[in-house]
Amino acid sequence: MTRFFLSKDYIHTGSLILVNGEYGFVGKAAEELVPIQEQLSSIKIQRRAAVLLSNLIDNIHGWKSIIPVSGWRSFKEQQDIWDNTRKESGLEFTRKYVAVPGHSEHQTGLAIDLGLKQDNIDFICPEFPYSGICQTFRNKAAEYGFIERYPAGKEHITGIGHEPWHFRYVGVPHAEIMSKNQLTLEEYIFFIKQFPYGQKTYRALLGEQEMHVSYLKADPSSNTELEIDGCIPYSISGNNTDGFIMTEWKQRNRCKTELQRA
Ligand code: DAL
Ligand code: ZN
Repeated sequence: MTRFFLSKDYIHTGSLILVNGEYGFVGKAAEELVPIQEQLSSIKIQRRAAVLLSNLIDNIHGWKSIIPVSGWRSFKEQQDIWDNTRKESGLEFTRKYVAVPGHSEHQTGLAIDLGLKQDNIDFICPEFPYSGICQTFRNKAAEYGFIERYPAGKEHITGIGHEPWHFRYVGVPHAEIMSKNQLTLEEYIFFIKQFPYGQKTYRALLGEQEMHVSYLKADPSSNTELEIDGCIPYSISGNNTDGFIMTEWKQRNRCKTELQRA
């Protein structure tokens, strides 16, 4: 076992951070932002999310019809969008479709708004219908680590109106777990707390790969100590509220393989 420590700052880092009206983005500006398309160099998201998004659109031959509309935004850009929308469409509309500056997922570099290519694309509410190529994209999104972040019927949980165009990278297997169980990120962060690290795990199967997800509460007074099996690939993300989510890639038939070797 390997022992190490997670600093408190780390709570605010990683692909599973919950950013909403209650929890602002306090992490550093995304470090590795890259454009999704060479031709549209101003629309950037974090590298891993950009590569997977681009692969997904390639695989469904979607570039003719799908266009990235908005990716990473600075605090200032979010403030300008808030102010302009408020001026043009009023406070009620703005609250429904624009996150309060400091609380937008776009500031993390993990969110992307997509639109159906057409002459006039609405920047705040682009069209991304539940049919045709847009629905094909949606059906495949979880496989590539993306979720539709603001679904209809969950507005009271997300605090944002229904946004068929806004996708958030959370990674695998999390996107598939959320999508299968129809959980928003708010609900998933809460759900996974039933699986405390070292005691219980949520098991997800991705092809032959078994993945175990669990929650580690941050030590409120100092760095959080963690012991980990160094032989197992893993990733850790902060949840931006009070701890970390651990994802471990376990060999499904490990015991059998070891027995055969013995
Ligand atoms: N449209 C989403 C909620 C944002 O402004 O971040
Ligand atoms: Zn958006």
